[in-house]
Amino acid sequence: MRIFTGLQPSGDLHIGNYFGAIAPMMKRQNDNEMIMFIANYHAMTSILKDKKTASNFKDNINKAAAAFLALGLNPNKSIFYLQSDVKEVLELYWILSQFTPMGLLERAHSYKDKIAKGLSANHGLFSYPVLMAADILLFDAPLVPVGKDQIQHLEITRDIAIKFNNEFGNVFTIPEALVDENTQTIVGTDGAKMSKSYGNTIDIFTSYKQLKKQVNKIVSDSTPIEEPKDWKNCNIYKIAELFLDENGLASLRARYEKGGEGYGHFKLYLCDVIWEYFDKARSEYERLLQGKEIADILNDGAKKASILAQNKMQQVYKALSL
Ligand code: ADP
Ligand code: TRP
Repeated sequence: MRIFTGLQPSGDLHIGNYFGAIAPMMKRQNDNEMIMFIANYHAMTSILKDKKTASNFKDNINKAAAAFLALGLNPNKSIFYLQSDVKEVLELYWILSQFTPMGLLERAHSYKDKIAKGLSANHGLFSYPVLMAADILLFDAPLVPVGKDQIQHLEITRDIAIKFNNEFGNVFTIPEALVDENTQTIVGTDGAKMSKSYGNTIDIFTSYKQLKKQVNKIVSDSTPIEEPKDWKNCNIYKIAELFLDENGLASLRARYEKGGEGYGHFKLYLCDVIWEYFDKARSEYERLLQGKEIADILNDGAKKASILAQNKMQQVYKALSL
């Protein structure tokens, strides 16, 4: 089955992104035809707001590519490209705009949320879902893995595709969102959902010093050192569960129950566990950032994606008599 998804190059990845989105996606590439792209056009809706954030853009794209590759994206199995390398998407975006009623976009929660958070209400932000529809419809993807916040965008994509198909024939595959109900919401250092916007993240590719600082922020109770501790309600333990196998967890539970160790000890232990867990990925990430391989991989991906995109555009032209 073909699976298609886009990822925004939005700064440092955290372990919530990893366990909630990246790891499940990487698993799927073994028995599916995966197409993944870095959504740099979409990222422009937030990154072009001032000169300073714009100046980090190229760097962020490069880092995002290195991160996905280091975390398991296999360019020999999956097509991996940069959105702006396949220009057909902009042409289809314009064509699909003719099939997008204003009301459909006016109802988009994501647009309203972003405005409420202070992004300016411009056309790019408003038409974001049409560009997303173009991404998806260009590649005939039946299944699109996304986070819960993107479900409405998939519904908009379906509406646009159905409207087009009804009038001009079956050109587009009607896609479905693939939302992993099993993926848990990973908690941040304060016990709320881990998110960049809450400043409660534990980042994947960071220095040991910074990792230690982030892990130290995990909120714990004030049980004295010598007393047994409640691992069931402990945020340190909850995060450790993501990384340790049953044996590791059993010995951690025993340490909690025995008493004599403080949360500081458990945090230090967790920090080492996380550091070790991403050790291989970290070396690969650094290696990729230093070399020229990323550009080659993305070029190769763009060539493969362009062939598919051009085929689809031929069908669109024919259907519309263009
Ligand atoms: P953030 O909230 O930090 O800005 P994004 O919205 O960029 O994260 O999320 C990118 C992907 O990672 C989405 O698919 C989202 O569902 C997933 N994700 C982000 N935070 C978490 C979390 N705390 N738990 C599980 N999945 C998450
Ligand atoms: N809007 C998506 C997000 O913020 C990224 C994205 C852009 C995307 N185009 C897509 C995801 C197409 C899936 C398919 O996460």
